Amino acid sequence: MNILRAFVPLAFAVLAPTMAHAASVASPDGRIVATLDTSGEGTPTYSVSFDGEQVIDPSAIGFIFTDSNPMRRDFTVLEEKTASVNTQWEQPWGERRFVTDRHNELAVTFRQRDAAAREMTVRMRVFDDGLGFRVEFPEQDGMPVANIAEELTEFRIASDGEAWSIPAGDWNRYEYLYERTAISALSTVHTPVTMVLENGTHMSFHEAALVDYSGMWLRRMEGTRLRAQLSPSPRGPKVVRKGAFNTPWRTIQIADGPAGLFESALILNLNEPNALGDVSWVVPHKYIGIWWEMHLDESSWASGEKHGATTANAKRHIDFAAEHGFRGVLIEGWNLGWDGNWFGNGRDYDFTTAYPDFDIAEVALYARDKGVRIIGHHETGGNIDVYERQLDDAMALYGKLGIDAVKTGYVADAGGVISRDADGNEIFVWHDGQEQVNHHLRVVETAAANRIAVNPHEPVKDTGLRRTYPNWVSREGARGGEYDAWAEPKNGPDHVPELIFTRLLSGPMDYTPGIFSLEGRDAVAPDIPSTLARQLAFYIAIYSPIQMVADLPENIAAHPQALDFVKRVAVDWHDSRLLEGAVGEYAVIARQVRDSDAWFIGGVTDETPRRPNIALDFLPEGRTFVATIWEDGEQADGLGHDRHAMDVRQVTVRHGDTLDLRMARAGGFAVELMPAAQ
Ligand code: NOJ
Ligand code: CA
Repeated sequence: MNILRAFVPLAFAVLAPTMAHAASVASPDGRIVATLDTSGEGTPTYSVSFDGEQVIDPSAIGFIFTDSNPMRRDFTVLEEKTASVNTQWEQPWGERRFVTDRHNELAVTFRQRDAAAREMTVRMRVFDDGLGFRVEFPEQDGMPVANIAEELTEFRIASDGEAWSIPAGDWNRYEYLYERTAISALSTVHTPVTMVLENGTHMSFHEAALVDYSGMWLRRMEGTRLRAQLSPSPRGPKVVRKGAFNTPWRTIQIADGPAGLFESALILNLNEPNALGDVSWVVPHKYIGIWWEMHLDESSWASGEKHGATTANAKRHIDFAAEHGFRGVLIEGWNLGWDGNWFGNGRDYDFTTAYPDFDIAEVALYARDKGVRIIGHHETGGNIDVYERQLDDAMALYGKLGIDAVKTGYVADAGGVISRDADGNEIFVWHDGQEQVNHHLRVVETAAANRIAVNPHEPVKDTGLRRTYPNWVSREGARGGEYDAWAEPKNGPDHVPELIFTRLLSGPMDYTPGIFSLEGRDAVAPDIPSTLARQLAFYIAIYSPIQMVADLPENIAAHPQALDFVKRVAVDWHDSRLLEGAVGEYAVIARQVRDSDAWFIGGVTDETPRRPNIALDFLPEGRTFVATIWEDGEQADGLGHDRHAMDVRQVTVRHGDTLDLRMARAGGFAVELMPAAQ
């Protein structure tokens, strides 16, 4: 049995090395208790309870190496320290402006009883919304270089329940539809993976601050026992580190229900503060692009008659953006390298030379004059060797032209990113392996030096590094809106209600919503499973400080009520709350506009129509608000014929009122709440 030790802030104890014991640390509200212990064999273990019930059974923490003995058993506890923090910090942009960091910490140092006498410290931080722990390796003679073959950290879920996951280690990176299974039926999955235990407790497993290490997958061993499996490397060791280093934080968000997961700031709290200083040049915005036309196959990235990125087409888009107040215009396919097969090799990309029918300087100037910014694009085809050799020049060119945001891309199968080893040989690495984790930070830092924000597609997963590098504004890292253009199946009605409680717990996503035509390519079954109102709801339901209005300009203009909404909706928030929802089924989200008293509410549902009755308790008392509502019409059916039926209405509301809203199958709604003129 574990002994619950009284929690003494800032106290520490140095223990006799042989003493076997357990130490516990509780969340500030006392509901979550984490215990660190050694098993009979001297294996460091941790366990977690929530409201007195075990949610993680004693689970091992350990490592194996390619060139030295495992660090798994025969440990004694050397030292134990505690601390507590209660502070608040401010995000430069975000889903909420102020974040509270309130946690208790326990750090236990273990030493192995062998000749090398290696040490490691397990640092555990317990918040009201979950916990994170990492392993810290000091600089030590017994391990000058750590060549980690595998991390053995386990997550032994104390009961079965349901889980929402996507597979790890398969070719399409993170771009899969979610599977809803029993926890005891999981395979090898990416994180975040979200679970609802049999007793209703909600948990989500992920990692925070993935820096100079390999991404963690979770592999089910048997029953409900999961184990870390690090993303591979062709070097042999999955992680190579010299001197002192820390693993990323392994995170477990724990809550009574879905709101506790949605509103959790655990991942951000476990990241380091802003390392870039003044980031006022990172500007949340909405954008359009020369983009959907390629996905519809109406134009091409490649040169020739169908070439999309021409000077004339760019100016047409800039005019449209200027007319409607969209700050950005993304232009894909402007630079050399798209001819031939660029997928997964990227050998021909030239990031500073434009195709002859595109004058980048003229276009950037034209945009500037109209108060619009070009958004740059660096598709690498997954060739980071070619990209890194041009990175400085490529970012400097954008910087010089006043282009302050870039979308990058790594289209290559998982395990097919091209890099080079120390001897100059081409090697193939993983999108979430240590090499690529380091590559992303190089790009983000180079971009920051040129005051450019970065939005990678086919990225590594988000682990909250936007706190440290606030120019890392968004990313893809899930099945985005593009699948509705060319894939079958498309993103079904469950997909966004699943994303909200899984992928989106890790951070912003560049989903690229706003397909008002609700049509993909003719050649594929064209109907997108969505109502028009649902496309609007995405701007509130899917958080990102940059939001695309992805459809063709002519389709956007053809839906004036939808256009009116996307012109009005905010992209930067003071606060965000889940008003109602169920994992993978539906969500009703309210967000307060930053520096404003206005709010937006968005709702999305799966294939079940719903009529949520939303209490406006979050509004301040004593003020009147004008609610403008875009909701599915009576006839609307996201899976049927009438997908465009949308009612727009206005009502006056106050604190304490309720709003009765309609969501069709695969539908949704959006509401703007504006303080009425006094
Ligand atoms: C895949 C990205 O997700 C998409 O947005 C982009 O247009 C293509 N790659 C080409 O870079
Ligand atoms: Ca993609």
